[in-house]
Amino acid sequence: MRSDKLRQLFIDFFKTKGHKEIPSSSLIPENDPTVLFTTAGMHPLVPYLMGCQKHPMGKRLVNCQKCIRTQDIDEIGDESHTTFFEMLGNWSIGDYFKEEAIDISWEFLTGKQWLGLDRNKIAVSIFKGDEDAPFDADSKKIWLRKGLKENRIAAFSKEKNWWGPAGSTGPCGPDTEMFFYVGSHDLPPENSNPETDEKNWLEIWNDVFMEYNKTGDGKFIPLAQKNVDTGLGLERVACILQGKKDIYKIELFSPIISKIEELSLKSYDDVLYVKSFRVIADHIRAAVFILGDNRAIVPSNVDQGYVLRRYIRRIIRHGRLLGIEDKFCPLLAEVVIGIMKNPWNELEDNRLFILSELAAEEERFGKTINQGLKEFEKMMTGYEQAYRATGKKPDIIPGKHAFRLYDTYGFPLEMTEELAREKGLKVDEEGFAKCYGEHQEKSRAGAEKKFKSGLENSSDKVIRLHTATHLLHKALKIVLGEHVQQRGSNITAERLRFDFSHPDKLTETQIKEVEDIVNGVIKRSYDVKYEQMTPEQAKKSGAVGLFDDKYGETVTVYSMGDFSKEICTGPHVGNTAELGHFRITKEQSSSSGIRRIRAVLEDAT
Ligand code: ALA
Repeated sequence: MRSDKLRQLFIDFFKTKGHKEIPSSSLIPENDPTVLFTTAGMHPLVPYLMGCQKHPMGKRLVNCQKCIRTQDIDEIGDESHTTFFEMLGNWSIGDYFKEEAIDISWEFLTGKQWLGLDRNKIAVSIFKGDEDAPFDADSKKIWLRKGLKENRIAAFSKEKNWWGPAGSTGPCGPDTEMFFYVGSHDLPPENSNPETDEKNWLEIWNDVFMEYNKTGDGKFIPLAQKNVDTGLGLERVACILQGKKDIYKIELFSPIISKIEELSLKSYDDVLYVKSFRVIADHIRAAVFILGDNRAIVPSNVDQGYVLRRYIRRIIRHGRLLGIEDKFCPLLAEVVIGIMKNPWNELEDNRLFILSELAAEEERFGKTINQGLKEFEKMMTGYEQAYRATGKKPDIIPGKHAFRLYDTYGFPLEMTEELAREKGLKVDEEGFAKCYGEHQEKSRAGAEKKFKSGLENSSDKVIRLHTATHLLHKALKIVLGEHVQQRGSNITAERLRFDFSHPDKLTETQIKEVEDIVNGVIKRSYDVKYEQMTPEQAKKSGAVGLFDDKYGETVTVYSMGDFSKEICTGPHVGNTAELGHFRITKEQSSSSGIRRIRAVLEDAT
């Protein structure tokens, strides 16, 4: 079964179970400052899982979400991990719980008209219990009732069998994970399960029973409602259905691998090279999707732009290891776009942008990488000489050396760390950060914190600023013209940041006009209303659509009086009067043709 069929089958299956399809949200979380990328389908659903809001599409939802998990970026190289992946997910927002969730998962996995997987090759894990939550006896009973043998049910602690919160606080709970046997026997041996025989079981699906809220003080408080949040790895399941052991051999990857073989004249089957092939194939998909998401991210030294830069530069370095010296990223990107443009048509829409940004970054790094690699070798020779002279074996690359590679040759720290690891060395990260801090206005530590922390609880302040963003968007169109289009939005509890297309700096008068319009609407105390309709109806009704978003069959249109009407997934405040006083704090250029506004909400006087 090809991946496109699997994607559709999943959605169709859940529709037969009363689920509504919601579109994939952006890879760049819009209203969440604490996380760089969307790592699971549940991110945009946090307020609904918390029970703060009713989801406009109902209590049963399904989608295919594009995800990036950067934690594993250095580990890519095995047969089943990728940093970019597609997650098929279904949700019960305070509707069904364990019994039905497991029932539905089992039917989809093993039902003849669905995936029809061999039930003898399936094992599961459940939560073992601890001081925060009890052993998940319910799930065990349900699985046994499904006919699963006791020795195919492994129990794990929170570390493995608990999912969320995505950040430090928020909805979370015990989960039950489903695994497929990938070992060498026809059938798994009697006592084999993910605990006794971990490497022979591939995790394919996770049903999370989100019934707790992790609070700031580390407590787990029962939520007002019990939810289900699931995630099935599209590539992994496609791999099983295609009878492959190696995810990079499925049809979503094989044309990329072939292209790399053609460019490098090396073979993927050569153990010397397989890791570089996989790194390149994974990273080029991630880079293409980040660039193609909404054209808001370009390679840079901070936040998402920095991750993107790391991806691209690592592709180039691994290309060099395969002997590719010429520019090749755009060639691979063409292949990725070809494979993925259906259903991800934003890639086709943004094709030129993707190709030109990749080419530009490759041009920049191509100029320095070879010299940088020479400089690295020179450093190694220096350490070797020092070792001979002193008898003291060096095990660490000094921060200032790593910083020289960064500053002069454009080596991201992580690339130097990778090179160092290959020589059995470490890098003095603190020393590096110190040099960096001295040279840059913003130390890398800030970005690093974001990589690790994840999703913050969606607060009222963020929701209010989100509603204000809609008003700002409309006010800008009124003051500057209809050409104004949203190019990015980022909201913290303190402020909103809004990027939009407009060629010139705003005058003070224009800024004042925009503020006055927004404050006028706030004072008019409009209820924030939403309606559901098809994208065509939304367009006809004059609703503003953001970016080149891919919409599902039904979209939600939020409106405030006759002032603003926008397609959006929410959440929003109930009435504009809740916003207080709107003030623009900064107006500046974001990139060519794009302006950036920061604004705050203050108590109304
Ligand atoms: N959010 C859950 C996961 O990512 C389903 O595994």
